[in-house]
Amino acid sequence: IICSRASPDDFPQCLSASIPSQLVFTQSSPSFTSVLVSSIRNPRFFTPTTVRPRWIVTPTNASHVQAAVVCGRRHGVRLRVRSGGHDYEGLSYRSQRPEVFAVVDLSSLRAVRIDTRSSTAWVDSGATLGELYYAVGQASDRLAFPAGLCPTIGVGGHFSGGGFGTLLRKYGLASDNVLDAVLVDAKGRLLDQTAMGSDVFWALRGGGGESFGIVLSWQVRLVPVPPTVTVFRIPVTAGEGALDVVTRWQEVAPALPDDLFIRALLQNQSATFESLYLGTCDALVPVMRRRFPELGMNRTHCQEMTWIQTVPYFFLGAGATVEDILNRTTSLSTYTKMTSDYVRQAIPRDAWPSIFGKLAQPNAGLMILDPYGARISAVPESATPFPHRAGVLYNIQYVSFWMAKGDGSAHTKWIRDLYAFMEPHVSSSPREAYFNYRDLDLGENVVVGNVSSYDAGKVWGEKYFMDNYKRLAMVKGEIDPDDYFRNEQSIPPLVPGN
Ligand code: FDA
Repeated sequence: IICSRASPDDFPQCLSASIPSQLVFTQSSPSFTSVLVSSIRNPRFFTPTTVRPRWIVTPTNASHVQAAVVCGRRHGVRLRVRSGGHDYEGLSYRSQRPEVFAVVDLSSLRAVRIDTRSSTAWVDSGATLGELYYAVGQASDRLAFPAGLCPTIGVGGHFSGGGFGTLLRKYGLASDNVLDAVLVDAKGRLLDQTAMGSDVFWALRGGGGESFGIVLSWQVRLVPVPPTVTVFRIPVTAGEGALDVVTRWQEVAPALPDDLFIRALLQNQSATFESLYLGTCDALVPVMRRRFPELGMNRTHCQEMTWIQTVPYFFLGAGATVEDILNRTTSLSTYTKMTSDYVRQAIPRDAWPSIFGKLAQPNAGLMILDPYGARISAVPESATPFPHRAGVLYNIQYVSFWMAKGDGSAHTKWIRDLYAFMEPHVSSSPREAYFNYRDLDLGENVVVGNVSSYDAGKVWGEKYFMDNYKRLAMVKGEIDPDDYFRNEQSIPPLVPGN
């Protein structure tokens, strides 16, 4: 319970009993800004008017995290948790409205321990995906981990909200491969899976970051891959038939063998098909000829490599090395606004010209289409909080970006218009969205009586979680009934009888 007479001003003193002072930064500390900015990915949330934390705590062990929670509750200071800082709305380090809060930045808690004997790993939340992938690649060329493409993403936020990349059809989400987790809850208790109970453990694997406490580390299942895999990248312009190929891709890609992932990036007037195949070029070419001849793929498109080499290939581009995936530096050059959809019925050929027309407008961004099917779709909807399973053909990520300073209003208008335009073509009742592609346009919490409202939260919660929203709210009611851990899109507590 937050004591009403306690003052936030006493928070640092409370911390000083348990945390070395060099791990706590106040706004007046010389390095406050550099610590704050260290993992900010989107300069939209680093402006003079951004609501910033009053303190940043950078724990180096679990007891520091526990102390931050205990002191935060005692002195009326809410905590926002940051692992990799990649949140699309910056909610791990900024608030939409004025608020006194501290950031617990987990970037110093980033150990990765691989056990090749059991094909498992323990990874701390502050590690990046690149650090995890690198450690897996060092341990074996026959093991991998299925998660997102961008190596600077933090494990903590990513696993909390699902996490998918090029292995999603073969092995599902990152969170589908979590075997155990260590959590600091709103009472400051350190809980393993047995202590937190099965409902909380269910919620942590896809129910979204911030809501249930601070996850310190995760045990994951590593997955087998062959020593040689094949990638290709094939651009097709509208003039070369991109609209026909995309129309066909919608039915083909989700039904391919699970070893084959082909996504489509739509930008300007072309579609680029990017693929990872868990096998050799010799084996891939006949599959492509039989299943997707419209793409015209042949041997000259193949590049064979190890799985770990595919990580820089997909995200960092030509010339990048495996060592580059360890680089944690993020740049503040690109402003972004994202949102997402799910498609359950293929969009008819005659709708594609107007979609490509939107991509030809001034200030247009791009659309990334990730195929589902196979493993990701085989998990029952209620088995984990992530509900976008059987029947989903593909996920759409809408990306709007701009480089120069400025308000980006033309770019955000473009993405909002496109989102409105796409409504008849995508899932409905609810219109589904992916939590890790967070968008505050979908709705924000309304706080009633110092607790986020369950009913008001349905507007965004059911888009991300569908029928699992209610169970998530009940779990929140069990583990954090006072709604201490909250942000603009955290799960509201549903407490029986209230
Ligand atoms: P960040 O630290 O900002 O946290 C995100 C949320 O989780 C916040 O609400 C935060 O409070 C909370 N949180 C963080 N750590 C926590 C912890 N230890 N315990 C509890 N709560 C915690 N996604 C995807 O699935 N596939 C992809 O390929 C990509 N690609 C991609 C590229 C780029 C450039 C960006 C910016 C983002 C993506 N994403 C993605 C989305 C990404 O998965 C999503 O933003 C993750 O939540 C980021 O996790 P971080 O830890 O980096 O974020």
